This record gives sequence, structure tokens and C-alpha cells, in this order.
Amino acid sequence: MTTIGYIVGSISSTSINRRLARAFERVAPDGVTLVEIPIGDLPHYSPDHDSDLPAAARAFKQAVSDVDGVLIVTPEYSRSIPGVLKNALDWAVRPYGANVFGGKPTAVVGTSPGGTGAALAQQHLKTILSHLDAPTLGQPEGFIQSTPDLFTEDGQVTDPRTAAFLRGYLDAFVALVERYRVRVGV
Ligand SMILES: Cc1cc2nc3c(=O)[nH]c(=O)nc-3n(C[C@H](O)[C@H](O)[C@H](O)COP(=O)(O)O)c2cc1C
Repeated sequence: MTTIGYIVGSISSTSINRRLARAFERVAPDGVTLVEIPIGDLPHYSPDHDSDLPAAARAFKQAVSDVDGVLIVTPEYSRSIPGVLKNALDWAVRPYGANVFGGKPTAVVGTSPGGTGAALAQQHLKTILSHLDAPTLGQPEGFIQSTPDLFTEDGQVTDPRTAAFLRGYLDAFVALVERYRVRVGV
């Protein structure tokens, strides 16, 4: 059994990236469970909290620790990642020595109405994850341009080619997670 945690980098009530995350839930293969790791209730990170983490931050860090891999589904804000996602990653890596992303397999995907499909946000995010020492899926890349009806509210994908891409993407990520699981077990 493999458990993939997913983080949605948007707290918008109408988020298309949340729809994309739900689409991934729908295409999960047998033996793979997707669970959300919520970030919307995290307070702003400050080193002032390092000696006594707030409950929401502890729960977030524990949730990342508990899963086999983390899929980050994020929009692009001003050619980078939204602040709410960066804030979560700052909690994840602090206090010093308590980085829960170290060695954790990750994958980065996102959707945008724009033609670049949130590509620049994903490139920034991969730089951050590299610093966090998290192995990250290289291929396929998940730059998805959304149209208004591509994903329904409950995550159905109206375009068969996109649905097939999502299945293949998740398969590739699960393969990465399994490779790292074996390495840890040696
Ligand atoms: C503050 C802000 C900045 C944005 N910057 C970009 C951008 O740089 N590139 C892009 O493709 N879309 C950009 N957008 C449009 C988002 O892709 C679009 O709002 C998308 O729906 C956000 O994803 P979400 O619905 O999952 O929140 C921006 C939106 C906001 C609110």
C-alpha cells in the first residue's frame, strides 16, 4: 500500500488546481491512496515559533512525515508559487534540523488558464524542493493549460487525453516513490 499526500497551493474556493487534485484522486491505481495535506490553516511562519510550534504546524509536519510521497498541485502567482504554499514549505523545513521534506519523494504539477500551464511556478518550486533535499519527479512535466470545462467540480476530466496524461503522471510518481522506498529499506 502506498500513500501519497497532496498539497493544493491554492486556498481559493473556486480553485482549478483543487479540481486537478481531485482528478488525481479519481485516477489513483489500485494500492495507492491519495490524502490531502491541508495548508490553509497554517499561521504565518516566524522563527519566533521554532521553540514551540503551533498545533497546526505540528499537524502539518506530521502529515508530511506520515506519507510515502508528496504531490504538490499548485497555481502560478506572478510567475512563482503562491505565498500560502511558500509559507507551508517554510514550516516544513524549520526549526533547523527538523526538515520533513528531506529524502521525501515529491512531484510538482499545476494548471493555469494561461498557455504556460503554471510552468514557471513549478520551476521555482523544484528549486525550493531541491534545497529541501526532496527528490522530485523529473519527467513527465505537468504543465496543464485549463479551459473552463476541463475539470468538473468533483474532479472528472472531460478530455480523454488529459485523463490519460494524469494516469501516466501518477504512475511515474508512484514508481519514483517505490524506488526511494527500496533505497530506504536497504
Ligand atoms: C495574484 C495572482 C497572480 C497570478 N499570476 C499568474 C501567473 O503568473 N501566471 C499564470 O499563468 N496565471 C496567473 N494567475 C492566474 C491564475 O493562474 C488563475 O487565477 C488560476 O485560476 C489560479 O489557480 P486556482 O484557481 O487553483 O487558485 C494569477 C492569479 C492571481 C490571483
